Amino acid sequence: MPRQLFVTTALPYANGNFHIGHIMEYIQADIWVRHQRMRGTAVDFVCADDTHGAPIMIAAEKAGLTPQQFVANIAAGRKPYLDGFHINFDNWHSTDAPENHELARQIYRDLRDNPGGSLIESRTIAQFFDPDKGMFLPDRFIKGECPRCHAKDQYGDNCEQCGAVYAPTDLINPYSALSGAKPELRNSVHFFFKLSDPRCVEYLQQWTQDGKLQPEVANKIKEWFSVRSNPDGSTSEGLGDWDISRDAPYFGIEIPDAPGKYFYVWLDAPIGYLASLKNLLGQRGIDYDTYMANPQLEQYHFIGKDIVTFHTLFFPACLHFSGRKTPDNIFVHGFLTVNNGEKMSKSRGTGLDPLKYLSLGMNPEWLRYYLAAKLSARNEDIDFNADDFMARVNSDLIGKYINIASRAAGFIAKRFAGQLGEVTEDGAALLHQLRSEVGAMEQLYEAREYAKALRETMLLADKINAYVDANKPWDLAKKPDQEARLQDVCTVCIKAFRILTCYLKPVLPALATQVEAFLNIVPLSYANIAQPMKAGHVIGTYQHLMQRVDIKQLEALFEAPEPIEAASEIAYPGGEAIAPTISIDDFAKIDLRIAKIVACQAVAGSTKLLQLTLDVGELDDTGEPKLRNVFSGIASMYKPEDLTGKLTVLVANLAPRKMKFGVSEGMVLAASHADDKAQPGIYVLEPVAGAQPGMRIH
Ligand code: 2FM
Ligand code: ZN
Repeated sequence: MPRQLFVTTALPYANGNFHIGHIMEYIQADIWVRHQRMRGTAVDFVCADDTHGAPIMIAAEKAGLTPQQFVANIAAGRKPYLDGFHINFDNWHSTDAPENHELARQIYRDLRDNPGGSLIESRTIAQFFDPDKGMFLPDRFIKGECPRCHAKDQYGDNCEQCGAVYAPTDLINPYSALSGAKPELRNSVHFFFKLSDPRCVEYLQQWTQDGKLQPEVANKIKEWFSVRSNPDGSTSEGLGDWDISRDAPYFGIEIPDAPGKYFYVWLDAPIGYLASLKNLLGQRGIDYDTYMANPQLEQYHFIGKDIVTFHTLFFPACLHFSGRKTPDNIFVHGFLTVNNGEKMSKSRGTGLDPLKYLSLGMNPEWLRYYLAAKLSARNEDIDFNADDFMARVNSDLIGKYINIASRAAGFIAKRFAGQLGEVTEDGAALLHQLRSEVGAMEQLYEAREYAKALRETMLLADKINAYVDANKPWDLAKKPDQEARLQDVCTVCIKAFRILTCYLKPVLPALATQVEAFLNIVPLSYANIAQPMKAGHVIGTYQHLMQRVDIKQLEALFEAPEPIEAASEIAYPGGEAIAPTISIDDFAKIDLRIAKIVACQAVAGSTKLLQLTLDVGELDDTGEPKLRNVFSGIASMYKPEDLTGKLTVLVANLAPRKMKFGVSEGMVLAASHADDKAQPGIYVLEPVAGAQPGMRIH
């Protein structure tokens, strides 16, 4: 029976773009999923935006948007990151989607109506209320004077000056961080999940300590069963009940039979994993309940070390006591620091902005390789170090691995018309040794020991390079009587390169695809390693597979963004002042039309341009549709297939422009920040559904 896996990464809050920490987690999980698929395992790999909660509601209000609009804008920016780093989720959904509303409400009902006794309890608690805003305030939105050291403007849960931990009600002269108003204590009914119930405690002790979790994670959790710290600084025994409700106004899911009460965001966020899966299955016409009832199904979640409580206590308890399947494991990783642990800060430029990385033309697989070379199964922090990055990519990945192909392929192409030869004994022994590592390699990926897998692979590459140095194909090539030996040695190299590519494929999927095309072979899997290319097999012509990292790219990556002129005085929207006023007649001169992108292709010789074929509803003399040709500088953000079939907006009466690659008949509208170094990214406009090609924009 092949395994069936359901895998997720943590759902990112829909209140900002991805940072490098998100990308690291997604790459870690993506490598594991690709490894599973190479074994023939069926995997569904999903994620979603974590949309609910007070901070997002407040941020949306500040931006003048509804929370739904606000999170839709964030969701729209996800694709370039995921595509850019070859992160291959099967579905990207939202915790505000109907599937999640239904699942969260049903799980709550099942907990409430648990046949062994309800696990939901309501209690009246006193909480600060902002009379100006008309809402209860989360602790982080209450400020005041620290009761211990009297520092001013401290948050409601702890003091940043002296480290004291307290309840918001302990603050001296508290005020609302939203309105500045003096908050009032008001009573409100809250719902609690009874984590302290002996059934839960017993179940979770077993679930967390049965050996599946990473040992360092299980040990930490053990402490929570004995002591717990309270907001007022005191400690209590054992697990505390969990407050799962919030009062309106709140952006979230309404609690059944409790109007005006919403689930706390952390109740519905992990249920979002299931909602995203359910949505994916729906797209495929598969029944969710049947899928989940499969006893073979294995469920895994990749998360960061800061959200372990939610995933190892609340989430399994909610699932188990509502009669559902619980995760088979939770894989916890540490944090990523940049350049020796310097705290990430955009203004100081020590952060590593993933989109900037891509826009500088840096290869996404360098980053995948580098991160994999540092990742293990342990929950420990890792550091991105620029010098180390350059050394590992240039010396190991390119110097040891890519070079094997570049050293041998030229001779095979030029001297033997691309044909591989027979392999003599020494070479065969070496190849046998390489192939016999496949089981070990599979085990290392399975155990998420990527650093070890790559170290092993580079040791194998060293052996091949030593073989090349000993046999000196460049010398053999000069001796006419050594023709057969030259073909033999180069054949060994190419065959070894195939095996090494298989071992690197989970980490370097795009490169592996290129290599498969170049070697003229079927997609590599662990199983087909044992079926080598035969003598007489013809390979393609070698094209450079990977560039070296240029130090200038790293310098540019970490260069602090240039201060935007007068930025300290005025923060312009999108980085530039609004242009001088024009009349409506001026505007009417610009003829903007809805255009359908009927075809889109890369432009040979240009990394910036895409060539678009547009239908603007025009007909030629014979009544046939007349299409326009437009070049657009958007190749950094979109692949041709991203845009084909979409609608956009064209400046239809712009004078045609002769370019190096042909005539451009108009201009497609796209948005970008004025400072494209600091805030790279260009976004093509797309109309709301219903617009038709040819419609004018007024
Ligand atoms: O910590 C976070 O970024 C949360 N948005 C993670 C949620 S994971 C899951 F529970 F949805
Ligand atoms: Zn203090």
